[in-house]
Amino acid sequence: MQKIGVLTSGGDAPGLNACIRAVVRAGHYYGLEVVGIKRGFKGLIEREFEPLTPRDVSLIINRGGTVLLSAREPRFKEHEFRKKAAENIRKEGIDCLFVIGGNGSFQGANLLTKEFGIPVIGIPKTIDNDTYGTEYTIGFDTAVNNAVDAIDKIRDTSMSHERVFVVEVMGRDSGFIALAASIATGADVALIPEYPFPMHVIVDTVVDALKRGKRFSIVVVAEGVASAREIAGILDEKLKPFDFGGVRYSVLGYIQRGGSPTAYDRIIASRFGVFAVEQFVNGKTDIMVALENGKVVAKPLEISFGRIKKPDLTDFELNNILTI
Ligand code: F6P
Repeated sequence: MQKIGVLTSGGDAPGLNACIRAVVRAGHYYGLEVVGIKRGFKGLIEREFEPLTPRDVSLIINRGGTVLLSAREPRFKEHEFRKKAAENIRKEGIDCLFVIGGNGSFQGANLLTKEFGIPVIGIPKTIDNDTYGTEYTIGFDTAVNNAVDAIDKIRDTSMSHERVFVVEVMGRDSGFIALAASIATGADVALIPEYPFPMHVIVDTVVDALKRGKRFSIVVVAEGVASAREIAGILDEKLKPFDFGGVRYSVLGYIQRGGSPTAYDRIIASRFGVFAVEQFVNGKTDIMVALENGKVVAKPLEISFGRIKKPDLTDFELNNILTI
């Protein structure tokens, strides 16, 4: 009987459990043994393996976080520890390693293949949605909904006190969350690293809104551009001559990464997981699962390395049109 291993690596994202469940259940459906590896690559090095049956993954599809736990493992950058991990995979008799992770985790997985011939399959997840080669990564939809929920609440205060609010969202070096949350909440400005605005344009946009009688504004800033505090400080200075309720800022932080996954994330995670197992069953490894034109497809794992995925320019322009 063939055996597959599954791990989650890097920052947690809502939908990881739905994906683990899908890999485990599809594995058993196709007659495979499934082993869960705890704490990502750390568990590979320290041999933290546990068999997983379909019943072990009951009641997790709706839960955030990851039941397999996750970690960012700096030791995996060293050949010596990757060798140890590969030895442990061989000793356990794992025929293919399923890595549910982002760019960094895929690079680690790729080294296991290149250096030691371990077959791997990558399944993309990150709330940031910044993995090149796939339109979607597990967790993004929930993170955007979490941000939208928070910004809708902040808008109540912004409107009632006639304040300008700068809201900082996650995304590392990318602006996918910021742009989507901005469109969905009708924010006045979305500051994202991919399509930068000079600061004077941001000030002018808020000033114009005030002059047009719009006495409250929301500026959404991606963490990769600047801190909300910094932007709020600049706006506060420039908006002094105007009569309104002042500038405040809010950093949404880790609430974006937690909570029960949306239906979309559960469905995508389930599709990605089952598709990944079917690829292995059909003899295809060293690939990543991707969403392309709305369909789940397989791509070479290396496609995601060193390339920058950008949000759609049309969406960025649409956001600017709607803030008139
Ligand atoms: O990649 C997901 C993410 O939440 C980013 O948006 C953020 O910049 C980063 O992880 C935070 O990382 P950590 O969990 O190590 O603080």
